[in-house]
Amino acid sequence: MGHYEITDHFHDVVIVGAGGAGLRAAVGMAASGLKTACVTKLFPTRSHTVAAQGGMAASLGNMEDGDHWLFHMYDTVKGSDWLGDQDAIEYMCREAGPAVLELEHFGVPFSRTEDGRIYQRPFGGQTLDYGKTMAQRTCAAADRTGHAILHALYQRCLELRTEFFVEYVALDLLMDDAGGCLGLIALSLEAGTLHRFHAHKTILATGGYGRVYFSCTAAHSCTGDGNAMALRAGLPLEDMEFTQFHPTGIYGSGCLVTEGARGEGGYLTNAEGERFMERYAPSARDLAGRDVVCRAMTIEINEGRGCGPKKDHILLHLEHLGAGLLHSRLPGISETAKVFAGVDVTRDPIPVLPTVHYNMGGVPTNLHGEVVTRSDGDDKAVVSGLMAIGETACVSVHGANRLGSNSLLDIIVFGRAAALRAATSVTAGEKHAPIPPEATERALTRFDRIRWASGQSDVGSMRLDMQLIMQRHCAVFRDGPLLEEGASKLGEVAARLRDDLRLTDRSMIFNSEFVEALELDNMISQAIVSLRSAIERTESRGSHAREDFPKRDDRNWLKHTYCWLDAHNRCRIGYRPVHLTPLSNDVASIPPAARLY
Ligand code: FUM
Repeated sequence: MGHYEITDHFHDVVIVGAGGAGLRAAVGMAASGLKTACVTKLFPTRSHTVAAQGGMAASLGNMEDGDHWLFHMYDTVKGSDWLGDQDAIEYMCREAGPAVLELEHFGVPFSRTEDGRIYQRPFGGQTLDYGKTMAQRTCAAADRTGHAILHALYQRCLELRTEFFVEYVALDLLMDDAGGCLGLIALSLEAGTLHRFHAHKTILATGGYGRVYFSCTAAHSCTGDGNAMALRAGLPLEDMEFTQFHPTGIYGSGCLVTEGARGEGGYLTNAEGERFMERYAPSARDLAGRDVVCRAMTIEINEGRGCGPKKDHILLHLEHLGAGLLHSRLPGISETAKVFAGVDVTRDPIPVLPTVHYNMGGVPTNLHGEVVTRSDGDDKAVVSGLMAIGETACVSVHGANRLGSNSLLDIIVFGRAAALRAATSVTAGEKHAPIPPEATERALTRFDRIRWASGQSDVGSMRLDMQLIMQRHCAVFRDGPLLEEGASKLGEVAARLRDDLRLTDRSMIFNSEFVEALELDNMISQAIVSLRSAIERTESRGSHAREDFPKRDDRNWLKHTYCWLDAHNRCRIGYRPVHLTPLSNDVASIPPAARLY
């Protein structure tokens, strides 16, 4: 092991990641007097939240009478295909209204109605009166809602003197002998130096791992670093078989075209010009749950009704909406369609394909953002010192399929919840427990293994192999043999990464090859866990559509998957029951039912 100087930093709380969840947590923690640091590999306003387009769900009822958090809760439970935990879902839907108003007060420039209220648009699966009609529930800042939220939160953080460590790559959690977290170790890209952060609470807010796939709407930075650090710390990941595809990624590039486009009246057609969603979801049509729309699109293509010379995509029509609406409500995607598809949306449809968009699975937490693990007789054992929020976390409010516009909601509500919890469970300025030297040594052993790797295989080719395997073997439709073959091929890539990686640059300063190798190491572990969790779940539910087990099986599978990974890339699987009981007596449990749109 090389000898490294390590700089020590002491904070009450350290947040890893500066997207919407991380920044909302930072605002609350700093405001409550805790010494707060945010360690982030990107400049905060470049975090992936900036790319969130369509909006944030809350039953404000600004566009119509009668919306209620009860309807939002029902839609979310149904959207999750009954895998979402109803206590956490109740909490999220009840907190949604206050969360939006709080953002408004922070300065988020939401679009407005004629009479000055926050503008809300329809989104998939969001209905009034338990599915009777579509709701206009999604609060939007044109189609740049995430951008608006992220900037407002960052400004708030600066005002509250949150300490930012920008372009610091988190390497590993530092755990004590009892399995609690005492902080983390990170690499400063600019200085090429190592930093050990001591914290009473370490909060993982590192986003999803969409880049495990070849085609995704996620930024290149979405490599799930927090999930991977949790796995290496001996913790499980939950529900990793559930990967959401978004129906409208631009054909070729995978860039997102917001569901808000269909919310504003856009629709899909096949090669015959047919609005095929009417056959699959007669009531909600193009605004059914995302998993439902993606399966319908895939079936149309597989049955020969795809568009274009290769019959391999679907068309999204917006041209009938008119230039005025497109300009005011959908300016961002109008530009994206021009740049990435060469399409003028006022005249022509956009070629689109289902594209990986969101990970429902992640680090298991309770609804206060505390990481939980499973020990005998207790499926909610809190891991001391560790929290997770946002797409990193599996609370689980999204279950087997997330509803569009519930993600911006999730990051704000649970970022705030984590801050509230930290404010009552951390004493500002308290002395830090010593970090065992072996914890740092373990992290540096991995660091050196990758830094000094001298095999034959380069990072880029192995990453592409992994992405193509996941794209082919863990897609919208799966079956046992396909998944098993994927797991076996992925095992070969993982072995190559371990035994045959070659880095050409050993330096520590802005060494992008090294950072990409660290990220690939992180991604491979999540890909392995995703495939194994998918192999084990022998039913179809939400985004996990098994052709060999096409039905949902509540008798055997109304439960969450936990998957651990050991140092030899072997998985261990466990389960815990879904929470079917809501948080309060204000609402009855929503019993599993057929999921029709
Ligand atoms: O389509 C969209 O604007 C994406 C929103 C979401 O995933 O919540």
